[in-house]
Amino acid sequence: MCLAAFAIRLQSGFPPPGFQPWTACCRLPLLPPATGFHSVEHRIPLQSLDNAFDQGELRAWHERLLKVLDRADDSPLPLVGELKIDGNALALSYRHGVLERAATRGDGSSGEEITANVRTISSIPLRLQIDDPPEWVEVRGEAFIPDDTFAAINNERAARGDALFANPRNACAGTLRQLDPKVVAARRLDFFAYTLHLPDGPSPANQWQVLQWLEQAGFRVNPNRELCDGLNGIERFCDRWEQQRHQLPYATDGVVVKLNDLRLQNKAGTTQKAPRWAIALKYPAEEAPSRLLKLVVQVGRTGAVTPVAEFEPVALAGTSVSRATLHNADRIAELDLHLGDTVVVRKAGEIIPEVVRVLPELRPSDATPVQLPQHCPECGSNLVREGDEAATRCVNSSCPAILRGGLRHWVSKGALDVDGLGSKLIEQLVDRGLVGSLADLYRLDAALLASLDRMGDKSATNLVEALEASKQQPWHRQLYGLGIRHIGEVNAKALAAAFFSINSLAAAALEAPEQIAELHGIGPEISASLGQWLRTPANQQLLQNLQSVGLSLEANASEQQAASQAGADADGVLQGKTLVLTGTLPNLSRSEAKALIEAAGGKVSGSVSKKTDYLVAGEAAGSKLTKAESLGVTVLSEADLTALLQP
Ligand code: IVH
Repeated sequence: MCLAAFAIRLQSGFPPPGFQPWTACCRLPLLPPATGFHSVEHRIPLQSLDNAFDQGELRAWHERLLKVLDRADDSPLPLVGELKIDGNALALSYRHGVLERAATRGDGSSGEEITANVRTISSIPLRLQIDDPPEWVEVRGEAFIPDDTFAAINNERAARGDALFANPRNACAGTLRQLDPKVVAARRLDFFAYTLHLPDGPSPANQWQVLQWLEQAGFRVNPNRELCDGLNGIERFCDRWEQQRHQLPYATDGVVVKLNDLRLQNKAGTTQKAPRWAIALKYPAEEAPSRLLKLVVQVGRTGAVTPVAEFEPVALAGTSVSRATLHNADRIAELDLHLGDTVVVRKAGEIIPEVVRVLPELRPSDATPVQLPQHCPECGSNLVREGDEAATRCVNSSCPAILRGGLRHWVSKGALDVDGLGSKLIEQLVDRGLVGSLADLYRLDAALLASLDRMGDKSATNLVEALEASKQQPWHRQLYGLGIRHIGEVNAKALAAAFFSINSLAAAALEAPEQIAELHGIGPEISASLGQWLRTPANQQLLQNLQSVGLSLEANASEQQAASQAGADADGVLQGKTLVLTGTLPNLSRSEAKALIEAAGGKVSGSVSKKTDYLVAGEAAGSKLTKAESLGVTVLSEADLTALLQP
């Protein structure tokens, strides 16, 4: 796409808010950082580690290592076991012994320069405590937030009504990217050093000595480490720390095993992604038994019911857990759940609780099987499960739960983006019968709103103004806000760019659905879902009501111009490609990366599948990266993406 066309799109408000027009004009490599931090190139890239998930995989790694080292004798290899600290990697450069630059890992090739923030971490020396420091040395290690500090931060946030950090690692990453170093200082981050890059002069000969060097130079080095002869000692070390890790005041997610001898490390070398001389043995997700108390079901915006198991509270990965989703009826049947069962619960990815299995041998003799209810707990109508769908649904479009979900969706950020209309207020409006459809929102007056719980004159007036302003949101957001199945933000944009009004979209959906199915990324399933929605009389009534309260349900002149121009320029390098974004990119925010990809004709999807062309992975990329690798999907760094987008 040419820049002029991109500029027109920008004027029309097409890219998400916050996207800076001048980023497009300056061309990509000159993109200023989204967060106020500079991107810096690492002198030596930061690799990640391969993982082993059990002792068998650890042994297989050891076998491979012996093979590449081509050892003549069978004496055991000296290995170092270290705790794998669950934090954020930092690269610290010292020039003539003085901390010169601190950077995050980023994509491994370049990261964000956060020196001012890192200077506030008391376990990182500003000056190395060694005589005759080298001209340049880089120390790497893990910044982290200890558990008690994490709890205090979240308590404060809860008291202020701020969103809580999911875990200490996220809290640490968020803190390192704070613009004000005073905030960082107050959060009391900590740091364990584990690697040294000392290009000139005499260096330690092995990893054990590296750790001693770091300690002498004034760094905090984790004391829980062991130098072992061969794998047996390492396995004992791993077993011990799998048991004892919860006694530590900080989070660890495994053990890192490293070949001790640095010359042999060099000989073993690295693969593209990770060194062959080290491996991370990850702890299995922590599990705990509990007793199933009851099954509750939640009804979502689409009517899909989600069964949730409630059990006696258990402590897991640092928090108390008493609920876990069971996903759908098949999962309940698969687990063969009975009320009163002893269930084994774990936190997947240390975050989301799940029921792993039942212990039938502990089942009480009178226990009854758990089943999904036959009626919607909100409106009492029959629940149905259609065809080969996994979900069971309430199909009563006036079900209050569906209405509440639809209203929450309509006012959400990507849709009409109405400030001041949270879940509690929506609940009051629906429960008191003040709002029975999306259109009713626009008939609310300030006096009525001011009389509701926790509302005042000011908040009521603000809300009425916000609702009025939301009528000007672009057509694609209005379409997305309707909450039609399979029409997420991406599909709504594609449809709105091809059909400039609800009338033209409806005419095509009802009379020539194949025309819609042929659009890039749409397909027959989405086209059919759209047709079904538009044929439903209650939805036709809703569209009329929305128009009568002032929603246009069509593109204005500048949106039309931008979409036509984009169509004419549909020769972007990513035309027809589907990309997925994961992890934190060093320079671009998610919405900026998305806008650039879309401007080049690509589509951004939320999950990795065989249809994904590229995964763009940043720091702390997790399961999406693993899945992409297993499916053979090409993985791009931010730098790869920007290179691809070069003219
Ligand atoms: S050594 C070439 N040692 O784990 C890799 N890494 O999953 C050098 N980590 O990116 C890393 N504790 O951020 C090493 N004792 C330790 C570690 C450690 C935590 C992190 C590090 C790395 C990640 C890989």
